[in-house]
Amino acid sequence: MTEAELYSVYKGVYVPTFVHPPESLKYYEEFTFRPDDILIITYPKSGTTWMQEVIPLIVSDGDLTPVLTVPNWDRAPWLEEQRAIQLNLEQRPSPRVFSTHFHHSMMNESYFKIKPRVLYVMRNPKDVFTSSYYYYGMASYMVNPGTQDEFMEKFLDGKIMFGSWFDHVKGWINADKQESILYIFYEEMIADLKGSVEKIAKFLGKSLNPDVIEKIAEQCVFKNMKQNKMSNFSLVPEEYMDHKKSEFLRKGIVGDWRNHFTEAQEQRFNAVYKDKMKDVKFKFMWD
Ligand code: A3P
Repeated sequence: MTEAELYSVYKGVYVPTFVHPPESLKYYEEFTFRPDDILIITYPKSGTTWMQEVIPLIVSDGDLTPVLTVPNWDRAPWLEEQRAIQLNLEQRPSPRVFSTHFHHSMMNESYFKIKPRVLYVMRNPKDVFTSSYYYYGMASYMVNPGTQDEFMEKFLDGKIMFGSWFDHVKGWINADKQESILYIFYEEMIADLKGSVEKIAKFLGKSLNPDVIEKIAEQCVFKNMKQNKMSNFSLVPEEYMDHKKSEFLRKGIVGDWRNHFTEAQEQRFNAVYKDKMKDVKFKFMWD
């Protein structure tokens, strides 16, 4: 099926209509934040699910119950997904944990007024590309990616769900200094998960003892998350996600793009990256 059949255009970017019907986008527009809300914000395939494991465990002081009993999409719901409407989020006790793939410019009025706490997770766009390529191939509500060359042109041009990686990252790194944002890299979490948990906990005003940090990091390593049916998307019916085509928790490594890109694709990607990021001063971990 085509973009015209599967996607809607919302605030200038494609969103898959099945997961983000107009009523859920409207719900988000009218949503009221609290100052102690915690928002996981990502461009898709940058480590959202990982953070949906880490943050609830920090909030629960290492009690595993939330991640072993509640699916990730309910414990840290995407505000733009239809599911959010059914969860009675207004009644949830603080601190509430949410996720969103929205660009900075797409955030609602309440966000800019309240300035809740944000964890913005970034990942090397080449790995985001590779991860997306497999995801688009296994999720029935996404447009089939076609060849890698075809998908690369769409990716570089932002003609995929949630638009351009470049615009997303530039928008969030240029957010107003008054906003409460911790920038974190997928690569940093791979390199030092315990250190990352500690850093995030500190940002959230929690001081956790080393045993708790160790316990959280252990639960959140790839092989353990992959076993957790509340986090590995195995609860999603096969008609929506076909795990035989690719698992959602696929490889969980840094640099898998090297196993997929041809030399020409690497050059093409580098040239577009260089051009689109030429004015950006922010230091990325992959540069
Ligand atoms: P890969 O496809 O490269 O394996 P998102 O949750 O934003 O959709 O991102 C999904 C990507 O994050 C997938 O990447 C997935 O495997 C990876 N991921 C999820 N949990 C992880 C973990 N605990 N450690 C490392 N990578 C993880």
